[in-house]
Amino acid sequence: MAVGVFDSGLGGLTVLDALHRRLPDVPFVYYGDNANTPYGTRAADDIFNLTCAGVERLWEEGCDLVILACNTASAAALRRIQETWVPEGKRVLGVFVPLIEALTERQWGDNSPPREVAVKHVALFATPATVQSRAFQRELAFRAIGVDVEAQPCGGLVDAIEQGDMILAEALVHSHVEALHRRMPRPQAAVLGCTHYPLMEDVFRAALGPDVAVYSQPELVAASLEDYLARHPELIGPGTEPGYLTTGDPVAVGQKATLFLRRKLPFRAA
Ligand code: DGL
Repeated sequence: MAVGVFDSGLGGLTVLDALHRRLPDVPFVYYGDNANTPYGTRAADDIFNLTCAGVERLWEEGCDLVILACNTASAAALRRIQETWVPEGKRVLGVFVPLIEALTERQWGDNSPPREVAVKHVALFATPATVQSRAFQRELAFRAIGVDVEAQPCGGLVDAIEQGDMILAEALVHSHVEALHRRMPRPQAAVLGCTHYPLMEDVFRAALGPDVAVYSQPELVAASLEDYLARHPELIGPGTEPGYLTTGDPVAVGQKATLFLRRKLPFRAA
């Protein structure tokens, strides 16, 4: 009854943590492509191929359903994966839609036509590839009208987090928020559109100030997966063992993951 969770590296652990809290009986298998991180500066074809390799590895672990806990893969590759690649009986889901449903005050899976919503000025912080794909704006336009989105590509931030250089990561958050403020001085809401960024959520909140509603994905994705599994119990795969896979060095990745999540995570080679 396993479910797969994929990310380019450590960021998806923020989502995994929320999934563990909300669905404690589901064995999750995590796959971090740490050898190839960051994805955010890669071309779409490259992201597609790396993501498919990770998803296939999770299928081997008995996960029929895989969550792409990576906005970059969700933005640059998910549509192509769903339309051209996923075989019968398997499912791959992304992390954009739950976030946008929350921002536009919708119930999970409400596909009614776009309408006016309370929030009008949204700052999106994401990787360069996610920003370039415009997937966030596209998904938003299906659900809301009249929302102004200013997207800030946060170059360097995933790399700094993966390296464990939190001083650099903090400086980068400040400079990206400043750059955003020059173009949108008063956002009402900010979206942390990369699963690595919740690890810097306090710094984002402090730099944005108390008047900005900050949307971060982990809890939203967990709530929407709970609802999805209640409607599609057949997609919980035959795997029974939880686990942590990485394409990087399992010892080094495990140490960094322990620092972030404050518990021991036994990573093994993918
Ligand atoms: N956690 C990934 C995301 O949500 C990071 C992407 C990267 O590797 O640059 O976008």
